[in-house]
Amino acid sequence: MASQASSIRLQKVIAQSGLTSRRKAEALIVAGRVTVNGRVVTELGIRIDPTRDHVKVDGRHIKPPQPDTFLMLNKPAGYLSTMSDPLDRPTIADLIVTRGVRIFPVGRLDYDSEGLLLLTNNGAIAHACLHPRYHVAKTYEVKIKGILTDEEIAQLEKGVVLDDGPTEPARVRKLHKAEANSWIEMTIYEGRKHQVKRMLEAIGHPVIKLRRTKFGPLSLGTLPVGHSRYLTDAEANALRALLRHQPVGSSGHPKPVSRRAPVLSKSVTPLPSA
Ligand code: URA
Repeated sequence: MASQASSIRLQKVIAQSGLTSRRKAEALIVAGRVTVNGRVVTELGIRIDPTRDHVKVDGRHIKPPQPDTFLMLNKPAGYLSTMSDPLDRPTIADLIVTRGVRIFPVGRLDYDSEGLLLLTNNGAIAHACLHPRYHVAKTYEVKIKGILTDEEIAQLEKGVVLDDGPTEPARVRKLHKAEANSWIEMTIYEGRKHQVKRMLEAIGHPVIKLRRTKFGPLSLGTLPVGHSRYLTDAEANALRALLRHQPVGSSGHPKPVSRRAPVLSKSVTPLPSA
């Protein structure tokens, strides 16, 4: 097995081969289904050198680690943000081609929401994108019932108290009216369940439509609904850069990395009329 310098946890090596998730790899190890250099290993702490040690699961060699893969999907409404569904409803897996790499969505968009959904096989980057400590900005174009007053915008920008506690301040911009309703742009820095809908509901403006246009350093741009594309190297590097910034405030509380994530391509998503 391996020295500390070149070593990686066994469950991580199995997950990086694309065979399964890290959690399921742990279960395989505990179940005695994994051998390293011919010896069954059932402890979870073991580190190996994947360039030298031979790992088998159920008697079969695992594949070498897969390269980082990042895909951006413009999710349509009416699809679940999961790769499979026991009830056989439409999922984002119906919309993408994974070329044999096991990728998963970074967070969720609701069934009826549209827009930018990142998929990757890189667990560390997925974690950074979702953990509140990294304050990754998520921007939405939202059609709401009615029109926001200046006081309501101030409320959203201060934070709203929801049943799971107060939210971080959001950034809000009015876009245009649509008869009795209106479109706004709203940026949040957390990723709680139904957060945008709940914040707007809490101040009396239920959401009619919701589309994510930006996610950290990524912009949806002109990617058509239902289409996906691989990220450019610059975009992938901008995501990797998130991992290098984890500032913690002097109070011991996390601080925003940057409220203004660099935009790599201009978002020119046209707004629908009314
Ligand atoms: N907030 C919501 O309420 N729904 C989404 O799909 C994303 C953010």
